[in-house]
Amino acid sequence: MNEQQHEYAIVSSGLNREFKVRLKAEGLAASLRNFFAPAHKTVNAVNNLDLQIRPGDIVGFLGPNGAGKTTTLKMLSGLLVPTSGNIDVLGYTPFNRDHAFLKSISLVMGQKQNLWWDLPPVETFAIHRRIYGLTDAEYKSRISELIDMLEIVDCLETQTRKLSLGQRMRCELAVSLLHQPQILFLDEPTIGLDILMQKKIRNFLLDYHRRFKPTILLTSHYMDDVAALAQRVIVIDHGNKVFDGYLNDLTHKMHPEKIMSVLLNNGEFICLPEEGCRLIHHDGHHYRFMLDRKRVPEMAARLYATGNIADLTIEDPPLEDLIGQLFTSDKPTRP
Ligand SMILES: Nc1ncnc2c1ncn2[C@@H]1O[C@H](COP(=O)(O)OP(=O)(O)OP(=O)(O)O)[C@@H](O)[C@H]1O
Ligand SMILES: [Mg+2]
Repeated sequence: MNEQQHEYAIVSSGLNREFKVRLKAEGLAASLRNFFAPAHKTVNAVNNLDLQIRPGDIVGFLGPNGAGKTTTLKMLSGLLVPTSGNIDVLGYTPFNRDHAFLKSISLVMGQKQNLWWDLPPVETFAIHRRIYGLTDAEYKSRISELIDMLEIVDCLETQTRKLSLGQRMRCELAVSLLHQPQILFLDEPTIGLDILMQKKIRNFLLDYHRRFKPTILLTSHYMDDVAALAQRVIVIDHGNKVFDGYLNDLTHKMHPEKIMSVLLNNGEFICLPEEGCRLIHHDGHHYRFMLDRKRVPEMAARLYATGNIADLTIEDPPLEDLIGQLFTSDKPTRP
């Protein structure tokens, strides 16, 4: 970290980024006019964004398509200059791109890669080793640990273009972590991967975080990633922050209900309360219903008291529903 240990690893205040985009014209005459004197509009991709993230935290960064997530990560990692506002990442101003700053962070984008397409990963690793000035001992111990954790020993000598998406993503993580960054910006690291591979990457990130405690800011459209990795989430919509807090609080505020699933040993189900309860599925001895979360303990006790319960589970409604609900209205919802 720059000189002293800071309370926050990432701080932004009043952060803005505008883009000037060319308007499309309809019809030939308008197209010609537009060709000679193009009309533009300004898009506020990120609007007055304040962030405070402590060292070692994992924060999920959520929002619908075009909300401004990637633009924010690019500004925080120094790839884009803000239109206005302040950013302090580990004591550095990212767009100055100090060498010491670049050695302290990594930006991993599921849609873009750091690996050289025509080279096998092992050669990209060697190039990065020189860029980051790692000693022989550092390189050997780090790379062998990453190869082991990411299970990529079989991919190292294959040309990157010939690797599967999952193999490439794991090699991508290895090269991005070689210099042991204190901050990891992850933009859709599991995009396009099948469920098993998503899980593998999630577990790797959890394990890596346990060992090295980097600060992680993660975007993902897969809510399982966010639920598994982050306790705190920041939600943005149209560039504006609409929620910043614990994922649990977001769930509770948006969904005051839980889903209860009950499997009976035999016979009829007991009567459901008329208020705060809604049957959503019934199949033989299996019942599934939504229940006001305040009534869950009383209901579970009542059901167990019948002595007729083979299985009972209580879960939160899927996070996808929650986020979908958060963005259904035109105006951002402020829970
Ligand atoms: N280079 C650019 N030029 C013009 N407009 C841009 C540029 N980059 C982003 N934008 C616009 O800024 C807004 C935010 O885009 P951004 O890529 O940050 O969204 P996002 O939250 O990452 O979306 P997604 O979930 O689809 O990845 C969008 O309206 C987008 O079209
Ligand atoms: Mg994006």
